Amino acid sequence: MTRRRWLALAGSVLILVFGSSMRISLKGRMGPRAFDLPKFVDALPIPPRLILTGQHREATIRLSAFPAKLHRDLPAQIQWGYGGTTPGPTIEVERNRGVRIHWKNELPTTHIFAEPKGLDMPDMPGMPGMPMKMPDVRAITHLHGAVVSEPDPMNRAKNNDGWPDAWNVPGESQLAEYPNVQPAMTLWYHDHAMAATGRNVAAGLVGTYVIHDAYERSLNLPRGAYDIPLMLISKGVHDDGTLYYTDDINSEFWGNVASVNGKLWPYLDVEPRKYRFRVINASNARAYALDLVDAADGTPGPAFAQIGSDGGFLAAPVLLNDPTTPGSPRLTLAPAERADLIVDFSKFVGRTFTLANHSHTADDEEFLPELMQFRVRKSLRTPDASVLPAAMRAIPRLDPRAATETRRIVFDRVKHADGSVMLMMNGKGWTDPIEEKPKLGATEIWELANTLIDVHPFHIHQVQFQVLDRRLFDVAEYLKSGTIAYVGEAATPAPNERGWKDTVKLTPQMVTRIILRFAPFPGFYVYHCHILEHEDMDMMRPFRIVTPPAP
Ligand code: C2O
Ligand code: CU
Ligand code: CU
Repeated sequence: MTRRRWLALAGSVLILVFGSSMRISLKGRMGPRAFDLPKFVDALPIPPRLILTGQHREATIRLSAFPAKLHRDLPAQIQWGYGGTTPGPTIEVERNRGVRIHWKNELPTTHIFAEPKGLDMPDMPGMPGMPMKMPDVRAITHLHGAVVSEPDPMNRAKNNDGWPDAWNVPGESQLAEYPNVQPAMTLWYHDHAMAATGRNVAAGLVGTYVIHDAYERSLNLPRGAYDIPLMLISKGVHDDGTLYYTDDINSEFWGNVASVNGKLWPYLDVEPRKYRFRVINASNARAYALDLVDAADGTPGPAFAQIGSDGGFLAAPVLLNDPTTPGSPRLTLAPAERADLIVDFSKFVGRTFTLANHSHTADDEEFLPELMQFRVRKSLRTPDASVLPAAMRAIPRLDPRAATETRRIVFDRVKHADGSVMLMMNGKGWTDPIEEKPKLGATEIWELANTLIDVHPFHIHQVQFQVLDRRLFDVAEYLKSGTIAYVGEAATPAPNERGWKDTVKLTPQMVTRIILRFAPFPGFYVYHCHILEHEDMDMMRPFRIVTPPAP
Protein backbone atom coordinates (compact mmCIF):
# COMPACT_ATOMS: atom_id res chain seq x y z
CA MET A 1 0.00 0.00 0.00
CA THR A 2 1.43 3.39 -0.87
CA ARG A 3 1.82 6.04 1.77
CA ARG A 4 -0.98 8.05 0.23
CA ARG A 5 -3.41 5.17 0.36
CA TRP A 6 -2.45 4.44 3.91
CA LEU A 7 -2.96 8.03 4.91
CA ALA A 8 -6.31 8.07 3.18
CA LEU A 9 -7.42 4.95 4.95
CA ALA A 10 -6.20 6.13 8.34
CA GLY A 11 -7.90 9.46 7.78
CA SER A 12 -11.26 7.95 6.90
CA VAL A 13 -11.27 5.59 9.86
CA LEU A 14 -10.38 8.51 12.06
CA ILE A 15 -13.22 10.68 10.82
CA LEU A 16 -15.69 7.88 11.45
CA VAL A 17 -14.43 6.81 14.83
CA PHE A 18 -12.96 9.86 16.45
CA GLY A 19 -14.18 12.78 14.38
CA SER A 20 -16.51 14.71 16.64
CA SER A 21 -15.42 13.52 20.09
CA MET A 22 -11.85 14.52 19.34
CA ARG A 23 -12.72 18.15 18.86
CA ILE A 24 -14.84 18.29 21.99
CA SER A 25 -12.15 16.82 24.21
CA LEU A 26 -9.60 19.19 22.72
CA LYS A 27 -11.78 22.16 23.53
CA GLY A 28 -12.51 20.94 27.03
CA ARG A 29 -8.85 20.84 27.88
CA MET A 30 -8.07 24.19 26.32
CA GLY A 31 -10.05 26.17 28.85
CA PRO A 32 -9.90 29.88 29.29
CA ARG A 33 -6.59 29.96 31.15
CA ALA A 34 -4.45 31.33 28.34
CA PHE A 35 -7.01 34.01 27.59
CA ASP A 36 -7.09 35.14 31.22
CA LEU A 37 -3.39 35.87 31.34
CA PRO A 38 -2.53 39.52 31.85
CA LYS A 39 -1.59 41.02 28.53
CA PHE A 40 1.39 43.15 27.59
CA VAL A 41 3.57 42.23 30.59
CA ASP A 42 6.50 40.65 28.72
CA ALA A 43 8.94 42.65 26.62
CA LEU A 44 9.07 41.61 22.97
CA PRO A 45 12.05 39.27 22.59
CA ILE A 46 14.45 40.23 19.83
CA PRO A 47 16.03 37.00 18.56
CA PRO A 48 19.85 36.97 18.65
CA ARG A 49 21.45 38.16 15.41
CA LEU A 50 23.81 35.81 13.60
CA ILE A 51 25.66 38.00 11.13
CA LEU A 52 27.35 36.01 8.36
CA THR A 53 28.60 38.75 6.07
CA GLY A 54 32.35 38.71 6.81
CA GLN A 55 35.21 36.51 5.68
CA HIS A 56 34.14 33.42 7.59
CA ARG A 57 30.62 32.61 6.54
CA GLU A 58 30.04 29.23 8.06
CA ALA A 59 28.08 28.42 11.19
CA THR A 60 26.74 25.48 13.15
CA ILE A 61 23.20 25.87 14.43
CA ARG A 62 21.95 23.26 16.86
CA LEU A 63 18.36 22.06 16.91
CA SER A 64 17.62 21.35 20.54
CA ALA A 65 14.98 21.20 23.28
CA PHE A 66 15.03 23.62 26.20
CA PRO A 67 12.63 25.11 28.74
CA ALA A 68 11.17 28.46 27.70
CA LYS A 69 8.41 30.66 29.05
CA LEU A 70 5.73 31.87 26.68
CA HIS A 71 4.48 34.32 29.28
CA ARG A 72 5.52 35.73 32.65
CA ASP A 73 2.75 33.85 34.47
CA LEU A 74 3.08 30.51 32.68
CA PRO A 75 5.50 27.81 33.80
CA ALA A 76 8.50 27.19 31.57
CA GLN A 77 7.78 24.39 29.11
CA ILE A 78 10.07 22.38 26.91
CA GLN A 79 10.09 23.90 23.44
CA TRP A 80 12.29 23.25 20.44
CA GLY A 81 14.40 25.79 18.67
CA TYR A 82 17.54 26.64 16.78
CA GLY A 83 20.68 27.74 18.61
CA GLY A 84 18.88 27.46 21.94
CA THR A 85 16.07 29.93 21.21
CA THR A 86 12.69 29.94 19.53
CA PRO A 87 12.48 31.70 17.18
CA GLY A 88 16.09 30.87 16.35
CA PRO A 89 18.70 33.48 15.55
CA THR A 90 18.00 36.05 12.86
CA ILE A 91 20.58 35.10 10.25
CA GLU A 92 21.79 38.13 8.32
CA VAL A 93 23.70 37.68 5.06
CA GLU A 94 24.86 39.80 2.15
CA ARG A 95 23.73 39.29 -1.42
CA ASN A 96 26.05 37.11 -3.51
CA ARG A 97 28.04 36.02 -0.49
CA GLY A 98 27.25 32.38 0.06
CA VAL A 99 27.05 30.89 3.51
CA ARG A 100 27.28 27.32 4.80
CA ILE A 101 25.19 26.23 7.73
CA HIS A 102 25.47 22.97 9.61
CA TRP A 103 22.02 22.24 11.01
CA LYS A 104 22.94 19.87 13.80
CA ASN A 105 20.11 17.76 15.18
CA GLU A 106 20.58 17.57 18.94
CA LEU A 107 16.91 17.05 19.68
CA PRO A 108 15.78 14.30 22.08
CA THR A 109 14.50 11.07 20.57
CA THR A 110 10.95 11.62 21.85
CA HIS A 111 8.81 14.45 20.52
CA ILE A 112 7.12 16.93 22.87
CA PHE A 113 3.88 16.29 20.98
CA ALA A 114 2.27 12.96 20.17
CA GLU A 115 1.95 12.23 16.49
CA PRO A 116 -1.55 13.27 15.43
CA LYS A 117 -4.02 10.61 14.45
CA GLY A 118 -4.15 10.09 10.74
CA LEU A 119 -0.39 10.19 10.32
CA ASP A 120 0.53 7.13 12.33
CA MET A 121 1.87 5.24 9.35
CA PRO A 122 3.55 1.93 10.04
CA ASP A 123 6.19 2.34 7.38
CA MET A 124 7.59 4.51 4.65
CA PRO A 125 7.27 2.44 1.53
CA GLY A 126 8.86 3.10 -1.80
CA MET A 127 11.92 4.86 -0.43
CA PRO A 128 14.98 2.67 -0.96
CA GLY A 129 17.37 2.87 1.94
CA MET A 130 14.82 4.40 4.29
CA PRO A 131 13.98 2.71 7.55
CA MET A 132 10.67 0.90 7.56
CA LYS A 133 9.29 3.00 10.38
CA MET A 134 9.91 6.72 10.54
CA PRO A 135 11.48 7.77 13.84
CA ASP A 136 9.39 9.94 16.14
CA VAL A 137 11.93 12.77 15.95
CA ARG A 138 13.17 13.69 12.49
CA ALA A 139 14.07 17.10 11.19
CA ILE A 140 15.34 18.84 8.09
CA THR A 141 15.68 22.57 7.71
CA HIS A 142 14.33 24.47 4.72
CA LEU A 143 15.11 28.10 3.95
CA HIS A 144 11.75 29.39 2.78
CA GLY A 145 12.02 31.71 -0.22
CA ALA A 146 15.61 30.81 -1.02
CA VAL A 147 17.14 29.94 -4.36
CA VAL A 148 19.50 27.00 -3.87
CA SER A 149 20.98 24.22 -5.94
CA GLU A 150 19.62 20.75 -5.17
CA PRO A 151 21.08 18.08 -7.41
CA ASP A 152 20.90 15.24 -4.90
CA PRO A 153 17.80 15.67 -2.76
CA MET A 154 18.03 12.35 -0.92
CA ASN A 155 21.46 13.19 0.52
CA ARG A 156 20.71 13.70 4.19
CA ALA A 157 24.16 14.94 5.18
CA LYS A 158 24.35 17.58 2.43
CA ASN A 159 20.94 19.02 1.68
CA ASN A 160 20.41 22.60 0.59
CA ASP A 161 16.66 22.84 0.12
CA GLY A 162 15.44 20.57 2.88
CA TRP A 163 13.93 17.67 0.92
CA PRO A 164 11.21 16.24 3.20
CA ASP A 165 12.41 12.63 2.97
CA ALA A 166 16.05 13.52 3.71
CA TRP A 167 15.40 14.12 7.40
CA ASN A 168 18.08 13.78 10.06
CA VAL A 169 17.66 11.96 13.36
CA PRO A 170 19.22 13.18 16.63
CA GLY A 171 22.99 12.99 16.30
CA GLU A 172 22.99 13.68 12.57
CA SER A 173 23.74 16.92 10.79
CA GLN A 174 22.57 18.59 7.57
CA LEU A 175 25.02 20.83 5.75
CA ALA A 176 23.22 23.43 3.63
CA GLU A 177 24.81 25.93 1.26
CA TYR A 178 22.89 29.13 0.61
CA PRO A 179 24.36 31.12 -2.30
CA ASN A 180 22.27 34.24 -1.45
CA VAL A 181 22.05 35.23 -5.11
CA GLN A 182 18.79 37.08 -4.44
CA PRO A 183 18.28 40.78 -3.76
CA ALA A 184 17.54 42.10 -0.26
CA MET A 185 14.55 40.30 1.22
CA THR A 186 13.17 38.61 4.31
CA LEU A 187 13.21 34.83 4.28
CA TRP A 188 12.55 32.43 7.09
CA TYR A 189 13.78 28.97 7.96
CA HIS A 190 11.72 26.17 9.41
CA ASP A 191 11.52 22.45 9.65
CA HIS A 192 10.27 20.46 6.66
CA ALA A 193 10.42 16.78 7.70
CA MET A 194 8.07 14.37 5.98
CA ALA A 195 4.69 14.22 7.73
CA ALA A 196 6.16 16.00 10.76
CA THR A 197 6.46 19.61 9.60
CA GLY A 198 3.38 20.82 11.47
CA ARG A 199 4.42 19.16 14.70
CA ASN A 200 8.02 20.38 14.46
CA VAL A 201 7.06 23.96 13.65
CA ALA A 202 4.50 24.00 16.49
CA ALA A 203 7.33 22.84 18.78
CA GLY A 204 9.29 25.96 17.79
CA LEU A 205 11.55 25.17 14.82
CA VAL A 206 11.34 28.58 13.08
CA GLY A 207 13.66 31.55 12.52
CA THR A 208 14.22 34.63 10.37
CA TYR A 209 16.81 35.00 7.59
CA VAL A 210 17.57 38.38 6.05
CA ILE A 211 19.47 39.11 2.84
CA HIS A 212 20.92 42.63 2.68
CA ASP A 213 22.32 44.41 -0.37
CA ALA A 214 23.75 47.73 -1.53
CA TYR A 215 20.45 48.90 -2.96
CA GLU A 216 18.74 48.39 0.38
CA ARG A 217 21.46 50.43 2.10
CA SER A 218 21.06 53.22 -0.47
CA LEU A 219 17.44 53.61 0.61
CA ASN A 220 18.43 54.70 4.11
CA LEU A 221 15.68 52.72 5.80
CA PRO A 222 15.54 52.28 9.59
CA ARG A 223 18.28 49.80 10.44
CA GLY A 224 20.04 48.05 13.30
CA ALA A 225 17.94 48.28 16.46
CA TYR A 226 15.13 49.86 14.42
CA ASP A 227 14.86 46.92 12.01
CA ILE A 228 12.96 44.19 13.88
CA PRO A 229 11.51 40.84 12.78
CA LEU A 230 8.04 40.05 14.12
CA MET A 231 7.35 36.33 13.83
CA LEU A 232 3.71 35.47 14.47
CA ILE A 233 3.66 31.90 15.74
CA SER A 234 0.48 30.10 16.74
CA LYS A 235 0.68 28.11 19.95
CA GLY A 236 -1.65 25.82 21.88
CA VAL A 237 -1.62 26.21 25.67
CA HIS A 238 -3.70 24.07 28.06
CA ASP A 239 -5.15 25.30 31.36
CA ASP A 240 -2.11 24.07 33.27
CA GLY A 241 0.31 25.82 30.93
CA THR A 242 1.38 22.70 29.06
CA LEU A 243 1.52 22.93 25.29
CA TYR A 244 -0.56 21.05 22.80
CA TYR A 245 -0.59 20.39 19.09
CA THR A 246 -3.53 19.03 17.10
CA ASP A 247 -4.58 15.48 18.02
CA ASP A 248 -5.88 14.85 14.54
CA ILE A 249 -4.18 15.83 11.30
CA ASN A 250 -7.63 16.44 9.80
CA SER A 251 -8.00 19.46 12.13
CA GLU A 252 -5.71 22.31 11.21
CA PHE A 253 -3.68 23.61 14.14
CA TRP A 254 -4.94 27.12 14.89
CA GLY A 255 -3.74 27.05 18.48
CA ASN A 256 -5.53 29.19 21.07
CA VAL A 257 -2.81 31.86 21.36
CA ALA A 258 -0.11 33.34 19.16
CA SER A 259 3.36 34.34 20.23
CA VAL A 260 5.26 37.22 18.73
CA ASN A 261 8.95 36.25 18.71
CA GLY A 262 8.21 33.67 21.40
CA LYS A 263 6.08 35.62 23.90
CA LEU A 264 2.31 35.92 24.21
CA TRP A 265 1.00 39.49 24.01
CA PRO A 266 4.41 41.15 24.37
CA TYR A 267 5.04 44.88 24.32
CA LEU A 268 7.77 46.89 22.65
CA ASP A 269 8.78 50.30 23.93
CA VAL A 270 9.59 52.43 20.93
CA GLU A 271 11.04 55.85 20.26
CA PRO A 272 9.02 58.47 18.39
CA ARG A 273 10.58 57.67 15.04
CA LYS A 274 10.36 55.28 12.09
CA TYR A 275 10.78 51.54 12.54
CA ARG A 276 11.08 48.74 10.04
CA PHE A 277 9.15 45.60 10.99
CA ARG A 278 9.59 42.40 9.03
CA VAL A 279 6.32 40.60 9.76
CA ILE A 280 6.42 36.87 9.13
CA ASN A 281 3.42 34.61 9.50
CA ALA A 282 5.14 31.54 10.95
CA SER A 283 1.87 29.95 12.10
CA ASN A 284 0.80 26.46 11.03
CA ALA A 285 -2.64 27.41 9.76
CA ARG A 286 -3.67 30.79 11.12
CA ALA A 287 -4.03 33.88 8.93
CA TYR A 288 -3.83 37.42 10.31
CA ALA A 289 -5.49 40.68 9.26
CA LEU A 290 -3.55 43.36 11.08
CA ASP A 291 -3.76 47.00 11.99
CA LEU A 292 -2.79 49.32 14.84
CA VAL A 293 -5.36 50.83 17.19
CA ASP A 294 -4.86 53.21 20.08
CA ALA A 295 -5.07 51.14 23.27
CA ALA A 296 -6.76 53.99 25.17
CA ASP A 297 -9.57 54.97 22.84
CA GLY A 298 -9.59 52.53 19.93
CA THR A 299 -8.85 55.18 17.33
CA PRO A 300 -6.74 54.04 14.38
CA GLY A 301 -3.00 54.12 14.88
CA PRO A 302 -0.30 54.94 12.38
CA ALA A 303 -0.54 53.40 8.93
CA PHE A 304 1.68 50.58 7.74
CA ALA A 305 3.76 51.53 4.74
CA GLN A 306 4.46 48.15 3.18
CA ILE A 307 7.75 48.35 1.30
CA GLY A 308 8.38 44.68 0.66
CA SER A 309 6.64 41.34 0.16
CA ASP A 310 7.95 37.75 0.23
CA GLY A 311 10.59 38.30 -2.46
CA GLY A 312 11.91 41.79 -1.68
CA PHE A 313 10.97 45.40 -2.31
CA LEU A 314 7.73 46.46 -3.93
CA ALA A 315 7.93 49.10 -6.65
CA ALA A 316 6.55 51.70 -4.25
CA PRO A 317 5.29 51.66 -0.68
CA VAL A 318 1.67 50.54 -0.27
CA LEU A 319 -0.21 52.29 2.52
CA LEU A 320 -2.32 49.96 4.66
CA ASN A 321 -4.65 50.91 7.51
CA ASP A 322 -4.19 54.53 6.58
CA PRO A 323 -6.47 56.48 8.94
CA THR A 324 -6.73 59.29 6.40
CA THR A 325 -7.93 57.03 3.57
CA PRO A 326 -11.41 55.50 3.99
CA GLY A 327 -11.44 51.83 3.08
CA SER A 328 -7.67 51.55 3.31
CA PRO A 329 -6.99 47.80 3.36
CA ARG A 330 -5.59 45.86 6.29
CA LEU A 331 -2.45 43.81 6.12
CA THR A 332 -3.55 40.22 5.55
CA LEU A 333 -0.99 37.46 5.84
CA ALA A 334 -1.65 33.78 5.20
CA PRO A 335 0.81 31.25 6.64
CA ALA A 336 4.37 31.83 5.30
CA GLU A 337 3.61 35.24 3.76
CA ARG A 338 5.83 38.16 4.79
CA ALA A 339 5.42 41.92 4.80
CA ASP A 340 8.20 44.42 5.25
CA LEU A 341 6.72 47.50 6.92
CA ILE A 342 7.75 51.01 7.85
CA VAL A 343 5.78 52.42 10.79
CA ASP A 344 6.29 56.01 11.84
CA PHE A 345 5.67 56.68 15.55
CA SER A 346 7.12 60.20 15.47
CA LYS A 347 3.81 62.00 15.97
CA PHE A 348 2.59 59.77 18.79
CA VAL A 349 4.72 60.47 21.87
CA GLY A 350 3.21 58.89 24.98
CA ARG A 351 0.61 56.81 23.17
CA THR A 352 0.22 53.03 23.13
CA PHE A 353 -0.93 51.06 20.10
CA THR A 354 -2.24 47.53 20.00
CA LEU A 355 -1.41 45.31 17.06
CA ALA A 356 -4.93 44.07 16.41
CA ASN A 357 -5.95 41.00 14.44
CA HIS A 358 -9.27 40.81 12.61
CA SER A 359 -8.88 37.42 10.98
CA HIS A 360 -11.41 34.92 12.30
CA THR A 361 -10.74 31.23 12.52
CA ALA A 362 -13.26 28.52 11.72
CA ASP A 363 -13.94 28.36 15.44
CA ASP A 364 -14.52 31.74 17.05
CA GLU A 365 -13.31 30.54 20.44
CA GLU A 366 -9.86 30.66 18.92
CA PHE A 367 -10.23 34.23 17.65
CA LEU A 368 -7.28 36.37 18.74
CA PRO A 369 -8.16 40.06 18.56
CA GLU A 370 -4.87 41.33 20.03
CA LEU A 371 -1.27 40.29 19.45
CA MET A 372 1.11 42.84 21.00
CA GLN A 373 1.56 46.51 21.92
CA PHE A 374 3.85 49.32 20.87
CA ARG A 375 4.37 51.99 23.54
CA VAL A 376 5.83 55.25 22.36
CA ARG A 377 7.51 55.96 25.67
CA LYS A 378 11.22 55.98 24.94
CA SER A 379 12.87 59.26 24.14
CA LEU A 380 14.51 59.79 20.81
CA ARG A 381 18.15 58.76 21.08
CA THR A 382 19.31 60.50 17.93
CA PRO A 383 17.31 62.38 15.33
CA ASP A 384 15.60 60.00 12.92
CA ALA A 385 17.48 60.39 9.65
CA SER A 386 15.91 57.31 8.07
CA VAL A 387 13.61 57.69 5.09
CA LEU A 388 10.36 56.21 3.85
CA PRO A 389 11.13 56.24 0.14
CA ALA A 390 8.49 57.64 -2.23
CA ALA A 391 9.29 54.80 -4.60
CA MET A 392 11.68 51.90 -4.95
CA ARG A 393 12.79 50.26 -8.18
CA ALA A 394 10.33 49.25 -10.87
CA ILE A 395 9.68 45.51 -10.90
CA PRO A 396 10.24 43.97 -14.33
CA ARG A 397 7.02 42.16 -15.23
CA LEU A 398 7.29 38.60 -16.47
CA ASP A 399 5.59 38.54 -19.85
CA PRO A 400 2.80 35.95 -20.23
CA ARG A 401 3.62 35.76 -23.94
CA ALA A 402 7.04 34.39 -22.99
CA ALA A 403 5.44 31.43 -21.19
CA THR A 404 6.26 28.15 -22.92
CA GLU A 405 3.98 26.05 -20.74
CA THR A 406 0.70 26.50 -18.90
CA ARG A 407 -0.04 24.02 -16.13
CA ARG A 408 -3.16 23.59 -14.08
CA ILE A 409 -3.03 22.50 -10.44
CA VAL A 410 -6.44 21.77 -8.93
CA PHE A 411 -6.82 21.90 -5.15
CA ASP A 412 -9.50 19.41 -4.40
CA ARG A 413 -11.01 16.96 -2.00
CA VAL A 414 -10.27 13.57 -3.47
CA LYS A 415 -12.52 10.63 -2.71
CA HIS A 416 -10.81 7.28 -2.94
CA ALA A 417 -12.42 3.96 -3.79
CA ASP A 418 -12.43 3.00 -0.12
CA GLY A 419 -14.58 6.04 0.66
CA SER A 420 -11.83 8.07 2.27
CA VAL A 421 -11.44 11.75 1.48
CA MET A 422 -8.19 13.71 1.29
CA LEU A 423 -7.09 17.20 0.32
CA MET A 424 -4.79 16.85 -2.66
CA MET A 425 -3.47 18.66 -5.69
CA ASN A 426 -4.50 17.15 -9.04
CA GLY A 427 -5.43 14.05 -7.06
CA LYS A 428 -1.77 13.27 -6.47
CA GLY A 429 0.38 13.07 -3.37
CA TRP A 430 4.01 13.15 -2.40
CA THR A 431 4.94 9.64 -3.53
CA ASP A 432 3.32 9.91 -6.95
CA PRO A 433 5.81 10.40 -9.80
CA ILE A 434 6.98 13.92 -10.64
CA GLU A 435 4.78 15.52 -13.30
CA GLU A 436 6.05 19.10 -13.44
CA LYS A 437 9.47 19.22 -15.07
CA PRO A 438 10.01 22.84 -16.15
CA LYS A 439 13.11 23.51 -18.22
CA LEU A 440 15.87 25.56 -16.67
CA GLY A 441 15.29 29.18 -17.66
CA ALA A 442 11.73 28.61 -18.87
CA THR A 443 8.82 30.90 -18.05
CA GLU A 444 5.53 29.18 -17.24
CA ILE A 445 2.02 30.09 -16.15
CA TRP A 446 0.46 28.01 -13.41
CA GLU A 447 -3.30 28.09 -12.99
CA LEU A 448 -4.05 27.24 -9.38
CA ALA A 449 -7.70 26.27 -9.13
CA ASN A 450 -9.16 26.11 -5.62
CA THR A 451 -12.39 24.08 -5.64
CA LEU A 452 -12.59 24.27 -1.84
CA ILE A 453 -14.33 26.70 0.48
CA ASP A 454 -11.29 27.97 2.34
CA VAL A 455 -8.10 29.81 1.44
CA HIS A 456 -5.08 27.60 0.79
CA PRO A 457 -1.69 29.35 0.72
CA PHE A 458 0.23 27.93 -2.24
CA HIS A 459 4.01 27.92 -1.87
CA ILE A 460 6.68 26.83 -4.32
CA HIS A 461 10.33 26.41 -3.45
CA GLN A 462 13.13 27.96 -5.51
CA VAL A 463 10.98 30.46 -7.41
CA GLN A 464 9.86 33.98 -6.67
CA PHE A 465 6.84 34.41 -8.93
CA GLN A 466 4.34 37.13 -9.87
CA VAL A 467 0.60 36.96 -9.41
CA LEU A 468 -1.29 37.58 -12.66
CA ASP A 469 -4.93 37.50 -11.57
CA ARG A 470 -7.74 35.69 -9.78
CA ARG A 471 -11.01 34.65 -11.33
CA LEU A 472 -14.15 32.89 -10.09
CA PHE A 473 -15.07 29.66 -11.81
CA ASP A 474 -18.03 27.31 -11.70
CA VAL A 475 -16.89 24.66 -9.24
CA ALA A 476 -19.99 22.47 -9.66
CA GLU A 477 -19.39 22.42 -13.39
CA TYR A 478 -15.75 21.57 -12.84
CA LEU A 479 -16.59 18.68 -10.51
CA LYS A 480 -19.06 17.36 -13.08
CA SER A 481 -17.12 17.75 -16.30
CA GLY A 482 -13.55 18.61 -15.38
CA THR A 483 -13.67 21.83 -17.36
CA ILE A 484 -13.07 25.26 -15.91
CA ALA A 485 -15.84 27.69 -16.83
CA TYR A 486 -15.16 31.19 -15.61
CA VAL A 487 -18.11 33.05 -14.15
CA GLY A 488 -16.51 36.39 -13.37
CA GLU A 489 -14.00 38.88 -14.60
CA ALA A 490 -10.33 38.39 -13.82
CA ALA A 491 -9.33 40.53 -10.84
CA THR A 492 -5.85 41.98 -10.64
CA PRO A 493 -3.92 41.26 -7.46
CA ALA A 494 -3.91 43.74 -4.58
CA PRO A 495 -1.21 46.46 -4.79
CA ASN A 496 0.91 44.72 -2.15
CA GLU A 497 0.75 41.48 -4.15
CA ARG A 498 2.33 43.03 -7.23
CA GLY A 499 5.90 42.37 -6.14
CA TRP A 500 7.75 39.07 -5.96
CA LYS A 501 5.99 36.31 -4.07
CA ASP A 502 6.75 32.74 -3.06
CA THR A 503 3.45 32.14 -1.26
CA VAL A 504 0.04 33.25 -2.49
CA LYS A 505 -3.46 32.99 -1.08
CA LEU A 506 -5.67 30.81 -3.25
CA THR A 507 -9.06 32.29 -2.65
CA PRO A 508 -11.97 29.81 -2.65
CA GLN A 509 -13.67 28.88 -5.91
CA MET A 510 -11.16 30.88 -7.90
CA VAL A 511 -8.33 30.25 -10.29
CA THR A 512 -5.26 32.18 -9.17
CA ARG A 513 -2.83 32.53 -12.06
CA ILE A 514 0.87 33.00 -11.38
CA ILE A 515 3.83 33.41 -13.72
CA LEU A 516 7.14 31.80 -12.81
CA ARG A 517 10.64 31.66 -14.22
CA PHE A 518 12.63 28.55 -13.30
CA ALA A 519 16.21 29.72 -12.79
CA PRO A 520 19.13 29.75 -12.02
CA PHE A 521 19.70 26.15 -10.87
CA PRO A 522 18.34 22.78 -12.00
CA GLY A 523 17.34 20.29 -9.36
CA PHE A 524 14.61 18.73 -7.26
CA TYR A 525 12.21 20.95 -5.34
CA VAL A 526 8.79 21.01 -3.73
CA TYR A 527 5.49 22.84 -3.94
CA HIS A 528 2.73 22.58 -1.38
CA CYS A 529 -0.06 24.16 0.61
CA HIS A 530 1.49 26.08 3.52
CA ILE A 531 -1.22 25.08 5.98
CA LEU A 532 1.16 22.62 7.57
CA GLU A 533 -1.45 20.00 8.42
CA HIS A 534 -2.47 19.99 4.75
CA GLU A 535 1.17 19.75 3.70
CA ASP A 536 1.75 16.85 6.10
CA MET A 537 -1.45 15.19 4.87
CA ASP A 538 -0.24 15.07 1.28
CA MET A 539 -1.00 18.50 -0.19
CA MET A 540 2.63 18.45 -1.26
CA ARG A 541 4.29 17.46 -4.52
CA PRO A 542 7.84 17.21 -5.81
CA PHE A 543 8.88 18.93 -9.05
CA ARG A 544 12.09 19.03 -11.03
CA ILE A 545 13.81 21.82 -12.93
CA VAL A 546 15.53 20.05 -15.81
CA THR A 547 18.45 21.04 -18.00
CA PRO A 548 17.42 20.54 -21.61
CA PRO A 549 19.71 18.06 -23.39
CA ALA A 550 22.37 19.72 -25.53
CA PRO A 551 21.27 19.89 -29.19
CU1 C2O B 1 7.90 27.37 4.09
CU2 C2O B 1 8.17 24.13 1.69
O1 C2O B 1 8.08 25.71 2.90
CU1 CU C 1 9.76 27.10 1.02
CU1 CU D 1 -4.42 23.75 2.19
